[in-house]
Amino acid sequence: MSAHGDPIPMIARRSGPLKGRAEVPGDKSISHRSLILGAMAVGETRVTGLLEGQDVLDTAKAMRAFGADVEKRGDTWHVHGVGVGGFAEPGQVIDCGNSGTGVRLIMGAMATSPITATFTGDASLNKRPMARVTDPLALFGARAYGRSGGRLPMTIVGAHDPLPVRYATPVPSAQVKSAVLLAGLNAPGETVVIEREATRDHSERMLAGFGATIATEDSDEGRVITLQGRPELRPQTIAVPRDPSSAAFPVCAALITEGSDVLVPNIGLNPTRAGLFFTLQDMGADLTFENPREEGGEPVADLRARFSPDLRGIEVPAERAASMIDEYPVLSVVAAFAEGQTYMPGVKELRVKESDRIDAMARGLRAAGLRVDEGEDWWRVHGLSFGAVPGGATVETFLDHRIAMAFLVLGLAANAPMRIDDGGPIATSFPIFEGLMAGLGADIAREAVPA
Ligand code: S3P
Repeated sequence: MSAHGDPIPMIARRSGPLKGRAEVPGDKSISHRSLILGAMAVGETRVTGLLEGQDVLDTAKAMRAFGADVEKRGDTWHVHGVGVGGFAEPGQVIDCGNSGTGVRLIMGAMATSPITATFTGDASLNKRPMARVTDPLALFGARAYGRSGGRLPMTIVGAHDPLPVRYATPVPSAQVKSAVLLAGLNAPGETVVIEREATRDHSERMLAGFGATIATEDSDEGRVITLQGRPELRPQTIAVPRDPSSAAFPVCAALITEGSDVLVPNIGLNPTRAGLFFTLQDMGADLTFENPREEGGEPVADLRARFSPDLRGIEVPAERAASMIDEYPVLSVVAAFAEGQTYMPGVKELRVKESDRIDAMARGLRAAGLRVDEGEDWWRVHGLSFGAVPGGATVETFLDHRIAMAFLVLGLAANAPMRIDDGGPIATSFPIFEGLMAGLGADIAREAVPA
């Protein structure tokens, strides 16, 4: 749905070569964290390259409701923080829109302050599980009152006398890890999070950048992250790297569209995020990392993707799943154009994203003429090779931006056009997607809303 609620049906048709530079927006994960940590520092944090997608704008609005000053002047976002433990009690319900990251991180950030806040979201977010966050927040002393099944809308009553927590995350989730760390900021003593599989570590890197004492150690239990509570966070100047999860769409489009050669500059390649690109290389993609460098504590490179007619299906290592969890929808599209089967195990978390992404992709791929097998935590796409994917379907996208973009990419190389019911949610993470893809030569358009 668009911000106003009207669906935006879209169509993608087989396209000529994609060529040029794809300047994708800032990283969504780092953008949320810049605003939240900026709001918890004392003084003015400045952020350039912030993703101005709806998800992040909703987090900016929420930070204002908790008392921080957040405004954009010129190209720079200025965040006047209130300090750890300085959040005010919001006077309105906090609407996080479509964003699981927004709501879960903000719940963590406020849970150890003596204030109460009520959270809600759109139809997609209000179906998603929150107990994974409210369970550990209860250990700090916070209480949560939500709908059945731990769903939003939900009220969190923050702890008056928070206790530090030692918590082993039961699911591989950077959102859960980050919620616990943010809550730990206003608890005395050491808060410890243990994760069996490494998930994206932007919170740890940024907390250290803001001056918190935080250490990560590998042990037999997994990664042990120890944070000292009650630091004074120092404001930062942050240049947000570009989002590898957004880069995935022009990169994958170039690989499957005949004659393409696309450069996607300045992409953040944090090892906890870059799994898709290694997987594509394992499949035989003509994808190179040019000019690798470090910017703002994150590895960055320019990605160059060229049409790759000889892709082959592979087994994607389960231990790589966390580092490419948001990229499976578009990977499955590439798999449709590969010779043989692509098997994707260890991906149960895909079932609780903005949609059940295994189900949403399997339905649409089948409608487009592919064979897909699935289990609770795995799926398999039987590739049809380049030039043999029928397409010609209209698919439901379930308010999920990545499902919408994945099927539009499929339409660029399928034999018949692909239609999606609603491209509105694309604006949550990649508001310039349509213009950027058109600039490369992709034939993607809006269609009239059916009467
Ligand atoms: C995110 C973590 C991931 C990811 C999401 C962003 C983050 O979710 O899917 O898009 O910024 O921490 P989980 O932590 O639930 O896996």
